[in-house]
Amino acid sequence: MEHRKLGRTGPRVSALGLGLMGMSDFYGPADEAESLSTILAAMDAGVTLLDSGDFYGVGHNEALLGRALKGRRRDDAVVSLKFGALRDPAGGFIGYDNRPKSVKNFLAYSLQRLGLDHVDIYRPSRLDPEVPIEDTLGAIADLRDAGFVRHIGLSEVGAATLRRAAAAQPIADLQIEYSLLSRGVEDTILPVARELGIGVTAYGVLSRGLIAGSWTPPAAGRFDFRAMSPRFQGDNLRRNAALAEALRALAAARGLTPAQMAIAWVASRGPDIVPVVGARRRDRLVEALGAAAVVLSADDLAAVEAVVPKGAAAGDRYPAAQMAFLDSERPA
Ligand SMILES: NC(=O)c1ccc[n+]([C@@H]2O[C@H](COP(=O)([O-])OP(=O)(O)OC[C@H]3O[C@@H](n4cnc5c(N)ncnc54)[C@H](OP(=O)(O)O)[C@@H]3O)[C@@H](O)[C@H]2O)c1
Repeated sequence: MEHRKLGRTGPRVSALGLGLMGMSDFYGPADEAESLSTILAAMDAGVTLLDSGDFYGVGHNEALLGRALKGRRRDDAVVSLKFGALRDPAGGFIGYDNRPKSVKNFLAYSLQRLGLDHVDIYRPSRLDPEVPIEDTLGAIADLRDAGFVRHIGLSEVGAATLRRAAAAQPIADLQIEYSLLSRGVEDTILPVARELGIGVTAYGVLSRGLIAGSWTPPAAGRFDFRAMSPRFQGDNLRRNAALAEALRALAAARGLTPAQMAIAWVASRGPDIVPVVGARRRDRLVEALGAAAVVLSADDLAAVEAVVPKGAAAGDRYPAAQMAFLDSERPA
């Protein structure tokens, strides 16, 4: 497995990361034993970057990751953890809290659930409009100085916040949605991240299954976050599915699956970018690992651009209420 360094100050991580979110939340029921086997298989294959959040399954995701890491060499994992999203006992989202004392409290509980003495990258999942970013980062820096955190990361913030953050603390990476269907990051955020020496961990590389052609609507009574997402609805869904079909045909001609083409495309955007793929099963993981070895030629990239041009996606990437919390979507 190739490795990439996250930004000027961040850790070296596998060129492909594994995102654990869907193993606990958002995408309908997951098979716990298969989730665990998938994490272990990823580590066996050399994947070091493992991404989680304390609110994924309200602690479930951390406990799962903790079980996977038991008996493993701690240095074989780069644990990336998000905090700040607040849930109620019914699973509802009730806001964000990035106050310094809350940051420290969140990490105390997270380390217990993970069974670890430190996390490698700790990041607020969203900007808290009530709390200056410098205060939040200062709290993480205290945790870092005390040995509970190795590096500071960010998630879904825009260029102006990146600049404020980088002026306050060394930032390893920005985690942000980046895929063939989500290319907004290219205009301002990516150039500024590069200028500041901040790496990018790209999520939603498969557009949550949409560009991989693997999403099907949930059965009645089953919760799937995507069913509420504009890209997965009505005419938007039909148009996006047509893009996925065009990518599938192109990938097949190259002996690849659409998921592999989509992952390789993100990886091709620069050595400072690490795709984090949300595989919940070992067969999906094996497919993603296959993509890590794919290098797309200039002709391949031009062909991809022709079938899925920038801006081709129909619909916003989140429902309106959640778009409002995306600092990354505010005008620069
Ligand atoms: N910072 C943030 O705001 C943020 C937001 C969202 C996610 N994340 C992180 O990023 C990670 C990845 O994001 P994500 O899971 O939303 O997006 P993703 O990787 O784009 O999509 C995951 C979906 O793609 C499907 N899939 C996986 N491998 C596939 C393959 N080889 N072929 C076809 N379909 C495949 C999965 O199917 P199955 O349903 O069958 O498993 C799942 O439904 C998350 O786990 C989380 O750690 C961060």
